[in-house]
Amino acid sequence: MKTKRVNRLSPSILAADFNILGEQIAAVKEGGAEFLHFDVMDGMFVPSISFGIPVLESIRKKTDLFLDVHLMVQEPVRYVQAFADAGADLINVHYEACEDLPATLEAIRQTGKKVGITIKPKTPVSVLSDYIEKVDLILMMSVEPGFGGQKFIPETMDRLRELRAMINKSKKQPLLEVDGGITLQNVADVLEAGADTIVAGSAVFRGDVTAQVKAFLKILSSAR
Ligand code: DX5
Ligand code: ZN
Repeated sequence: MKTKRVNRLSPSILAADFNILGEQIAAVKEGGAEFLHFDVMDGMFVPSISFGIPVLESIRKKTDLFLDVHLMVQEPVRYVQAFADAGADLINVHYEACEDLPATLEAIRQTGKKVGITIKPKTPVSVLSDYIEKVDLILMMSVEPGFGGQKFIPETMDRLRELRAMINKSKKQPLLEVDGGITLQNVADVLEAGADTIVAGSAVFRGDVTAQVKAFLKILSSAR
């Protein structure tokens, strides 16, 4: 029997209009999303630089959305406490960015925040087997991290199926999030392949934000 899952949308503010960020976040909330995806880029782990701790603090003061922080940062253990203090609800680190991944995950756990681990498109899914019982969420990148607005990598579908099978066998059953190039056109297939938490940047913020969120949530709820 197919188990029923609850699906969530995590709009990525990387694609927002920062002149009116507060209004855009209010529009996400009005559309009914529960998560907000916060992409931190350090110019080292990825070529670009985005935003960081003061922006997160400012958002936290004004929203009760679940703040899903994706650290595209080399040796993120250096910043775990700072992002926790700034108001993250979940701190997500890259497998490829940590010299001591178990210690990094433990440092996040110690802050009392939810723990996430992310893999890039070319990292084998099998590396996750040692960590699946230690995290609350696994994020699979469906583009090379570093920029919004890229095209979804089709090989992600098989990787999602492989990871979904691993998660279904686990005790902890972490959420399975996917990030990069997700649109209203491909999201149903991504859910079908096993994702339950959907990041979308351009597809939410390039247009009427509330309407786009609602359109995604309609597909997410009918896939339950
Ligand atoms: C890429 C970021 C993504 C990105 C998604 O490095 O992690 O969260 O903003 O943006 P879209 O949906 O535009 O691909
Ligand atoms: Zn992201």
